[in-house]
Amino acid sequence: MASKFQVPRGTRDILPGESERWIALEATTREILSRYGYREVRTPLFESTDLFVRSVGESTDIVRKELYTFEDRKGRSLTLRPEGTAPLVRAYLEHALGHGDPVTRLYYIGPMFRYERPQAGRYRQFWQIGAELLGPAAPAADAEMIDLFVAILQGIGLRDVRVLMNSLGDSVCRPAYRERIREHFASREAELCGDCKERLRTNPLRILDCKVPSCQPAIASAPSVLDSLCDPCREHFEGVKKALDALGIRHETAPRLVRGLDYYTRTVFEVHAAGLGAQNAVGGGGRYDQLVKDFGGPQTPAIGFSIGMERLLLATGSLETGSALRPDVCVIAREPGAVLEALQVARDLRGLAAGGSAAGLRVLVDVAGRSASAQMKWASKLEARYAVFVPPDPDGYAVRDLEAGQDAPKQATLPSLRAWLRQQAATVSEDVTR
Ligand code: HAM
Repeated sequence: MASKFQVPRGTRDILPGESERWIALEATTREILSRYGYREVRTPLFESTDLFVRSVGESTDIVRKELYTFEDRKGRSLTLRPEGTAPLVRAYLEHALGHGDPVTRLYYIGPMFRYERPQAGRYRQFWQIGAELLGPAAPAADAEMIDLFVAILQGIGLRDVRVLMNSLGDSVCRPAYRERIREHFASREAELCGDCKERLRTNPLRILDCKVPSCQPAIASAPSVLDSLCDPCREHFEGVKKALDALGIRHETAPRLVRGLDYYTRTVFEVHAAGLGAQNAVGGGGRYDQLVKDFGGPQTPAIGFSIGMERLLLATGSLETGSALRPDVCVIAREPGAVLEALQVARDLRGLAAGGSAAGLRVLVDVAGRSASAQMKWASKLEARYAVFVPPDPDGYAVRDLEAGQDAPKQATLPSLRAWLRQQAATVSEDVTR
């Protein structure tokens, strides 16, 4: 069916068949996050532009090239959120979510927007699951965060992953490293791409993140940040690795890992999954010990991560697979006048009238007014387990077991029909082979 309109470039519709996988992913993730003590925050999809410029960083690709920025009717500059950490920190301060507690655990799940060149695993609207731990500065917090990240991946069945880690130092040791990096790249400026030549002046650390092939030799020979760390930063990084070892989480040190956002201090990490091709980071994060203070709050160390949901689903299989919704029962109206009775019987069997019931069935009625035989074809196509016929015969409701292809015992009354069907459904749900 042709339409005059298509979905905007770089965005996708999540359709039935796939949406079930999203619902399951969200449910599993929420369950795991709650077991680690995290509570959800839902912030608006847009914020004042300045929030992202000040946190993500003026010289990052995200701010320079990828923001969806617009003016509202009063001339305020607003931006569709490209990430969730800055909005969450804003909300944390605005509503005093810390309540004076030394530790606050918060999470978010929702769409983010970046004007990037679309390809598999990279979209202009994409979803993130993000967790942020505000308050603790100790290496145990970093380890717990990475442990949570891995627990979510394992919870959805992704085991073949690599945890890459680095430390970016802090305000004590990073300036000296930045200068060493600047000198290194200045001496090889001729090899750098146009963007990196500009980065040399604005933010030389960003060059380490460049993917342009001609820049790679200069990047490969750049000094390692790990050689420039001050003692407290080095001890912190060692402490994180030791804690991960104690938890049995395998990790690799990646001295060139800098990540695409400017708010990081000390620990940064990414998790890569097999089968994702070029966009192989299913998520990443790190420590941002200055951001709360930069937003006007008290000095509050913090660490967090975000997982890209499309990439997570891609890594566990194709985005588009998923099974159809199979009804337990289709109520068949034997004659056109019986459709209202079919609706009543269906409503009873669903078991929702008395405030919801776990024992309710999934029941469909053909409201298109088709013949009884067309309704039967429709029920088989949906792979319904039973067909129930209305109006009932004088001796009760006729039931057909569509799976077995034979008639089931007639049920004398609506309550006995309901009880019998529920009993069948319960037997089936215990049978794990279904
Ligand atoms: P990020 O590395 O920019 O970090 O994004 C995290 C993840 O979001 C990526 O690893 C990827 O899975 C997914 N992602 C990013 N861009 C796209 C895209 N265009 N299409 C599809 N997926 C994408 C952050 O956003 C930080 N806020 C993470 C963080 C939280 N750091 C501390 N707390």
